[in-house]
Amino acid sequence: MKIETVKWVNGKIRLIDQTLLPHKLSYVMCRDIKTLWQAIRSLKVRGAPAIGIAAGFGVALGAKLSNARSPKNLEKDVNKVISYLATARPTAVNLFWALERMKRILLANKAKSVSGIKKALLKEAMDILKEDRSMCREMASFGSKLIKKGDTVLTICNAGALATADYGTALGVFYKARSQAKKIKVYSCETRPLLQGARLTTWELMMSGVDVTLICDSMAATLMQKKKIDKIFVGADRIARNGDAANKIGTYSLAVLARYHKIPFYVVAPSSTFDFSLKSGLYIPIEERPGCEVRRALGKRIAPDKVKVYNPAFDVTPNKLITGIVTEKGIFRKPYTETLKKLKSKVCA
Ligand code: MRU
Repeated sequence: MKIETVKWVNGKIRLIDQTLLPHKLSYVMCRDIKTLWQAIRSLKVRGAPAIGIAAGFGVALGAKLSNARSPKNLEKDVNKVISYLATARPTAVNLFWALERMKRILLANKAKSVSGIKKALLKEAMDILKEDRSMCREMASFGSKLIKKGDTVLTICNAGALATADYGTALGVFYKARSQAKKIKVYSCETRPLLQGARLTTWELMMSGVDVTLICDSMAATLMQKKKIDKIFVGADRIARNGDAANKIGTYSLAVLARYHKIPFYVVAPSSTFDFSLKSGLYIPIEERPGCEVRRALGKRIAPDKVKVYNPAFDVTPNKLITGIVTEKGIFRKPYTETLKKLKSKVCA
């Protein structure tokens, strides 16, 4: 089955409602911007690249819904949509990257008619989706070279088809390795509190026939101690120009464990996930989510109602713990402050 996480359908944005997986595969139709904003905030659509793609379409939808009769008024309406969507979630830079791209198109086309501007915005949103598809394929080609026949790999959260326009970043590497007849075994951390690993990664890997085993997050250390893990591959939500990488909470613990057990630790992310304006991971804004997500699991209360909760959605893995960063332009290694300059020069015109 082809997973179409985000799709423009008859002038609306269709999203797979990821909060209902794996029990139910159903879709949310976003006919207005508020529905899209809520879908991003509530993780109906999630994963850095997918959030960016959805936001691109959000701007196109905002333009489509505008009743403005002049390009000037349309520009005002679209800018409001851009500012609003930028408040949906703070960490994945792909959201801001996509909104910035849409803003540039708005500016570059402001001399056109209202309908010309609307068309240009929709085309840009489509291009963001298409480019994400090819970036997934390119990352997978580079990343799969790191995998040997029979490897056992570990991942966290969901960096697969459900997080992108194609078959994912970290999971794309696994799909590609398998297509090269390298039989691999994947361990998926369940990823508390919202269980993206248990609900989404196992679902999509099983559907593709990849050998996947689910573990609780606390079981990763013992697997590494027993020498059951050859390599770790994770996605990212924002990478600073020194290579520090924010990803789902729990990623940093895996990186520390990997260093102790001498296991290679790779981050797989497209250039749209890099924030070259940030000197280090210290400056990456980390989303804190409501306490109820920790007090409850799958809608059921598992802790005293009023217990205090700390719930950061992401953590930052320092560059020194990262063996390599796989991008669509190749694999980058230490010293990242130097090597990532090359990536920047390739992707920033
Ligand atoms: O809170 P989420 O589910 O949006 O977090 C997603 C992740 O942390 C992913 O690993 C990351 O966005 C990379 S997806 C290719």
